[in-house]
Amino acid sequence: MDEHQALARAVSLAARGRFDVEPNPVVGAVVLRDGDVVGEGWHADFGGAHAEIVALAAAGSAARGATVCVTLEPCSTRGKTGACTDALLRAGVARVVVGCRDPQVGHQGAGLSILEAGGVSVHVADAADCVALLEPFVSAQALARPWVIAKWAMSSDGAIAPPGGGPAAISSEASRALLHRWRAHLDGVLVGVGTVLADDPRLTARGDVPVVRPGHRVILDPELRTPLGARVMASGAGTDTWIYTTPEADEQPAQSLENDGAAVLRIPGGDDWLHGVMASLHLRGVRRLMVEGGATTLTSVLRAGLVDQVDVFLCPEPLGPGALPALTDRALDATSPEAVAAALGLVDVAVIAVGPDRLLRGYVGANRAPRSPTGA
Ligand SMILES: NC(=O)c1ccc[n+]([C@@H]2O[C@H](COP(=O)([O-])OP(=O)(O)OC[C@H]3O[C@@H](n4cnc5c(N)ncnc54)[C@H](OP(=O)(O)O)[C@@H]3O)[C@@H](O)[C@H]2O)c1
Repeated sequence: MDEHQALARAVSLAARGRFDVEPNPVVGAVVLRDGDVVGEGWHADFGGAHAEIVALAAAGSAARGATVCVTLEPCSTRGKTGACTDALLRAGVARVVVGCRDPQVGHQGAGLSILEAGGVSVHVADAADCVALLEPFVSAQALARPWVIAKWAMSSDGAIAPPGGGPAAISSEASRALLHRWRAHLDGVLVGVGTVLADDPRLTARGDVPVVRPGHRVILDPELRTPLGARVMASGAGTDTWIYTTPEADEQPAQSLENDGAAVLRIPGGDDWLHGVMASLHLRGVRRLMVEGGATTLTSVLRAGLVDQVDVFLCPEPLGPGALPALTDRALDATSPEAVAAALGLVDVAVIAVGPDRLLRGYVGANRAPRSPTGA
């Protein structure tokens, strides 16, 4: 395999991170030694290990003197897991081929300079397919709001709750385990107060998963109806509870909720309220947010054009007449992933079996307008 072929392989590896790393760019890396692949990897989860780190770990000592082909300029800032440039220098690689430069002006070229100063030969391929992988990252930066994933579990008759509302085990154990893995890589999980009242959810990442991102619990609650004893208010879960309301909401319940440990955040109401909530979440450091329901909330974020990605568990059992439809403004044919994708305007759709359920994932086409890496 030559460097050109290795970069093409890295692009296809990068695609394996789609739906799980945005708004980070998907990234793939291949370690080449004398024309043989001795290690490869991709960025698999938001907040998880970078592609270069995974590929170097797979290569082990074979990385010394090797060439690393990576779709994006390696990062040079030391986050939780350290800079990729440091890892490449430590591994003793001889050459790094990058598909494209870092799109962030303040970072662009920094990783390349560090590698060159460390005696590594560097080549920038300026490959169009590598630039294309940056699109969600670049558009999220331009929008200054989180990457928003709308997620719900839907019965075969298109419902998300039984007649009269309230909790119901619609999705399988396998789907719920996957949800907890996702939550461990989220900055925030958002629901409407209707779900807090009906289900009393905890909204935390549970199970055998290391929690990588803070997963703050966010509630849309204009009238401050969140009960003081609600499980979503529980402290000690390692995450904060943020309740979004309006400037008109009463002071007394706000004070009680704050005394109980929540932050009550007042955003001016009106048509732009949800946009204001998203801007506030972005300012609070939320980059990846999952909106988990219920029907009113899902419908309003979709209608406001604030959803980038949809993850729907299509479950085999019906909930029966009178059950609560997933969306308040349209019926969805939950027996057909194609019909659901078309009704929601999804593109780049994938359907994956999860136990007895089918997971439908796609990007909202209207929010996927191509942008150049400069954001123009
Ligand atoms: N199957 C699933 O995946 C799933 C997931 C979650 C929930 N659920 C089910 O969904 C049901 C609850 O759905 P729901 O529609 O009644 O409740 P919801 O969407 O959880 O909450 C609705 C309330 O949140 C506030 N809200 C939401 N969007 C708003 C906006 N854009 N602007 C202002 N306020 C906003 C409003 O509070 P105010 O009325 O106080 O103004 C609204 O009444 C429950 O039965 C639950 O079991 C199912």
